[in-house]
Amino acid sequence: MHKIAVIPGDGTGPEVVSQGLKILRAAAKKFDFQYSTQVFDFGGERYLKTGKTLEESDVEELKKFHAIYLGAIGHPEVKPGILETGVLLKLRFSLDQYINLRPVKLYNAAFCPLKDKKPQDVDFVVVRENSEGLYKGMGEFKNKGTKDEVATQISYNTRKGVERCIRYAFDYCRKRNKKKKVTLCGKTNVLTYAWDLWERVFGEVAKEYPDISTDYAHVDATTMWFVKNPEWFDVIVTDNMFGDIITDLGAMVQGGMGIAAGGNINPQGVSMFEPIGGSAPKYTGKNAINPLAAICALGMMLEILGEARAAKAVEDAVIKVVRKNLKSLAAGKMGYSTAEVGDLVVKNL
Ligand code: IPM
Ligand code: MN
Repeated sequence: MHKIAVIPGDGTGPEVVSQGLKILRAAAKKFDFQYSTQVFDFGGERYLKTGKTLEESDVEELKKFHAIYLGAIGHPEVKPGILETGVLLKLRFSLDQYINLRPVKLYNAAFCPLKDKKPQDVDFVVVRENSEGLYKGMGEFKNKGTKDEVATQISYNTRKGVERCIRYAFDYCRKRNKKKKVTLCGKTNVLTYAWDLWERVFGEVAKEYPDISTDYAHVDATTMWFVKNPEWFDVIVTDNMFGDIITDLGAMVQGGMGIAAGGNINPQGVSMFEPIGGSAPKYTGKNAINPLAAICALGMMLEILGEARAAKAVEDAVIKVVRKNLKSLAAGKMGYSTAEVGDLVVKNL
């Protein structure tokens, strides 16, 4: 019995999550597994009513589940930063979800903004470190509000944190069994402390994986290759900040935020799956947002829960819908409503 915590969250989160749950219902029936869900109301509305983001007791409660399914966090009436750090990052950090796994896979060449790139050219995975780096929140103001103000923000990288992330990337690459190549994406030419550590650990860990080839690219060059030669990549490992940036570009290369999913993974604990696009206030309540990113996130969750056949079926169904039915992957332009896209996926399951 899979125990799933559901956090619909803000904006279009609830709409896309309800489509994901529709697929889950159908998949459970077809592949004969049992699950239960419990909904939590963390997010902007709750914060506006109670002033609460996420308490220690909430985290303890969530630890009792096998996985978390998240819609979106971010509310137009809440100052940026409060919900992001108080809910989303708090979840990632307190559940030690130290990997953010973000597949970049093109399902239909028609939706790729790059000229002449086909599905076989865009198929890689970004392994983003998810617990340290610039996201650690270390830094300070000096002389705040004066002409002599200085603000520092520290990138915090531990040997253990870097090593577990890099090791995950190599293991994942081996299991994925495609090009068998891990690329380290960094900035060794400027960030000479942090990336010195990353580069040394990468070299050491790589020795344990003779079957996997390695490569290195600076982060600025990586963005260039994403556009010019995405077919060079298989698994990319990088830090929290660079991973955040390059995966938005990755999302566009695979057809847009409507299809981009991610998993916040704690290999020994509770992982959390989400569409990476955010709460899209403009489309809230319009039945127009693309639910496929959330549905792909659901597929990733099924994989982690050990339902590999169901996970594969969800992805295959999404591929069919993206190839046969949708006019576009963008909100309001799909040729179908949010709920209709969900129905199409169920039909193809
Ligand atoms: C993401 C988002 C978050 C991040 C924000 C909302 C805190 O951009 O999941 O990529 O920066 O990690
Ligand atoms: Mn981001």
